[in-house]
Amino acid sequence: MFAEDEAAILRRAAAGDDLERLIVRREAGEFLEHLVGAVEIAGEVLDVGPGVFVPRQRTVLLIEAAIAEARTRVRPVVVEAYCGVAPVAALVGRRVSGVQLHVTDCDERALAYARTNLPSAAAVHHGVGLGALPQELAGSVDLLVAVPPYVPSAAVDLLPREAREHEEAAALVSGADGLDEVRVLVRGAPSWLAPGGVLLLEMHRRQAPSALAVAQATSAWAERGFVVGEDGETAIVRLVRAGCDGARAAGAAPSPDAEEP
Ligand SMILES: C[S@@+](CC[C@H](N)C(=O)[O-])C[C@H]1O[C@@H](n2cnc3c(N)ncnc32)[C@H](O)[C@@H]1O
Repeated sequence: MFAEDEAAILRRAAAGDDLERLIVRREAGEFLEHLVGAVEIAGEVLDVGPGVFVPRQRTVLLIEAAIAEARTRVRPVVVEAYCGVAPVAALVGRRVSGVQLHVTDCDERALAYARTNLPSAAAVHHGVGLGALPQELAGSVDLLVAVPPYVPSAAVDLLPREAREHEEAAALVSGADGLDEVRVLVRGAPSWLAPGGVLLLEMHRRQAPSALAVAQATSAWAERGFVVGEDGETAIVRLVRAGCDGARAAGAAPSPDAEEP
């Protein structure tokens, strides 16, 4: 974004003499989105604030995939795990009618913003991993989506300063290969998904083959693949829960550009 555009956004966000203070904080490295309390993504404006993970533009790829997947089903149960301010669930809720939304995160501050971004009927669950979900959802989720933390621990120093200093490490980093939480999701999701239910996970393109190898180690997944976004870096891993012909019966055909390891 050009400096003049940022200045215009800060001017609009500032109430009178707060402008100077906002400029100083921005120059000191705070996210523009934290300062103005909003992020624009996929044509929608969502609430966000200090200390909370700011949804990235690369996640539009996952948002579009989730919307397309949800549209193939009737009154689908959709879960965004590791939701932060819930960009995927919020956009699915705004673009697909009849969805039943659930979101989870271990950070109460993020969930406070998620509540303002989601339709009022959405259920917000606080807790670690998928264990935050209510037991009655087991075996009934049609679509489970997540942007878990996936930065390898050794790569933290390569992150932009604003992320290192103004987002929680727990929101970004996930073990030596960045895949600790991805493994939790790939192994844990089958018991929450209905037969034919779909798991969509964002990660880096180079991590996707390892995620598919984790999926291949169990018979829970009937289909495994991934697509890479136009940035050449962001990947969406798509796994379909085995159990019946549900995925195809529901019209959720694998995308033509899905890759196998
Ligand atoms: C990379 S952020 C993504 C947030 C959101 N999906 C987005 O794209 O803006 C990861 C989120 O996972 C949450 N998180 C990290 N580890 C978690 C865990 N073990 N259980 C639940 N949530 C976790 C963090 O609080 C953070 O909000």
